Amino acid sequence: MNFFIDTANLEQIKEAAQLGVLDGVTTNPSLMAKEGISEPKAVLQHYVDICNLVDGPVSAEVISTNFEGMIKEGEELAALHKNIVVKVPMIAEGIKAIKYFSDKGIKTNCTLIFSAGQALLAAKAGATMVSPFIGRIDDINWDGVQLIEQIVHIYQNYGYATEVLAASIRNPLHILKCAEIGADIATCPLSSIMGLFNHPLTDIGLAKFLADHKNSKG
Ligand code: E4P
Repeated sequence: MNFFIDTANLEQIKEAAQLGVLDGVTTNPSLMAKEGISEPKAVLQHYVDICNLVDGPVSAEVISTNFEGMIKEGEELAALHKNIVVKVPMIAEGIKAIKYFSDKGIKTNCTLIFSAGQALLAAKAGATMVSPFIGRIDDINWDGVQLIEQIVHIYQNYGYATEVLAASIRNPLHILKCAEIGADIATCPLSSIMGLFNHPLTDIGLAKFLADHKNSKG
């Protein structure tokens, strides 16, 4: 399973990259705004800065909602760095844009996926990856992990190359559940990745090893 970090914060990206288990980054307009980045040139520079920290796919989202606007923005983003993946919303104009980008060899991430039908459309259009938002589904008392399972199953039935990128992860258990059912990628806040380390028996065991070592020195 590939691990992406879901943030536009350079310090958090660096911290995750230093662990040696980071495969990519996803951003969205809300995450960029959280870093105070909205001026167009600054946005483009920030994506380049992220690409320089992680050697893997970096999702950069278009703001336009019509085909022409998405193409213009997406081509500009894709030209920034070889690792840029153009993130496109799951709307009809977005599906047209994904087909266009796919024909041109530009990688795409179809975002705001909340149903298997949407994931099927995105795969047919040639999306490189789809982002089902499992946390937001759980938030309304539905089952986000079940959606991931359904999409993985459908893609396997037809051999679609589109990767399932579990997004809107809220905790380490989400990551594990997605791994169990075969999601290709989980994009996670740093706290959820760090949460995977936690086990009280590891802490107790390490403390005992160190104490025994110290006592054996006499
Ligand atoms: C990433 O690709 C998504 O935009 C992100 O995971 C959404 O997460 P949220 O539901 O926590 O905003």
